[in-house]
Amino acid sequence: MVIVLGIESTAHTFGIGIVKDGKILSNVRDSYTTEKGGMIPIEVAKHHQKVKEEIYNKSLKEAGIDEENVDVIAFSQGPGLPPALLEGMRFAKELSKKLKKPLVGVNHCIAHLEIGRITGAKDPVMLYASGANTQIIAYASGKYRVFGETLDLGVGNFIDTIARFLGEGFPGGPKIQKLAKNSKNYIELPYSVKGMDVSFSGIQTKLKNMIDSNKYPKEAIAYSLQETVFAMLVETAERALAHTGKKELLLGGGVGCNTRLQEMCKIMCKERGAKFFCPDKSLLVDNGAMIAYLGEIMFEANANVFEQNEMDKVDIAPRQRTDDVVVSWKHN
Ligand code: ATP
Ligand code: FE2
Repeated sequence: MVIVLGIESTAHTFGIGIVKDGKILSNVRDSYTTEKGGMIPIEVAKHHQKVKEEIYNKSLKEAGIDEENVDVIAFSQGPGLPPALLEGMRFAKELSKKLKKPLVGVNHCIAHLEIGRITGAKDPVMLYASGANTQIIAYASGKYRVFGETLDLGVGNFIDTIARFLGEGFPGGPKIQKLAKNSKNYIELPYSVKGMDVSFSGIQTKLKNMIDSNKYPKEAIAYSLQETVFAMLVETAERALAHTGKKELLLGGGVGCNTRLQEMCKIMCKERGAKFFCPDKSLLVDNGAMIAYLGEIMFEANANVFEQNEMDKVDIAPRQRTDDVVVSWKHN
């Protein structure tokens, strides 16, 4: 039995979680936010630098352990923003040196997926809808395969951009959801699904023009955006369920916090006799607990583990893809 400390720092969030034997002991995080405007990578890195010690101490305290009790340090290796990833890796290496414990490099997207096990999902199709990523993923012969994905923007980044055009701050997802609740005024938007892939840039241009024209209420824009874009995501997820013959759908990533998206997934699953799983909000958004959780599984399987004398081999992987990772820890 090991205690794993996981560090998340791929984008806006710096988080540290502690896991013991598949149980989450703590999950503390702090996110870079703005009142107006988007996120600037260097500013994000400064944010992480500033909060890391405090998050570390809080996480240990919440878990009720001392740092000497930590057996393994896991960190998000990629994909993500290089300046933000570097902060996390440096901190992981510092801790590894100080505590004389091994490091595990974890793929952020696969962590979003594996944490779904905590909800009881065993072999799901995953709709991974976050800021930078939008993918339909499922396990098949040794790897997590990407069955479909966005051809341009991540759905969360797309939503954040529209929120910015509407004069709302970052992150825009919760603000769009709030606006959408106050409307039933559906304005037709381009619907862009190609097989199991989706694209958002055409919809973004159309929405920008609508916003610039000042002719449409914010609420109607938010409502129409959600109805269109979430229908696209649910359609591709359903196609992947049909294609793979799997019977479980798992939602992951920050956009998964959206209750309308959850509702649409539930309806689709009910109609085709599949089970729907959705982790708690604190595990949907970027967080350290999911990194520790997958870190523990990978450590036990000796996958991507680095000892003290191998630190120079450890690097960030800003562009690592889900299907680059050999999933040696899963057998089915
Ligand atoms: P990635 O996993 O691709 O690195 P990320 O680090 O940006 O992405 P997450 O923390 O998983 O991601 O998700 C953040 C995104 O989730 C933001 O774009 C935010 O607007 C969106 N989001 C959060 N809450 C909601 C909501 N209620 N509705 C829609 N989107 C939401
Ligand atoms: Fe994420």
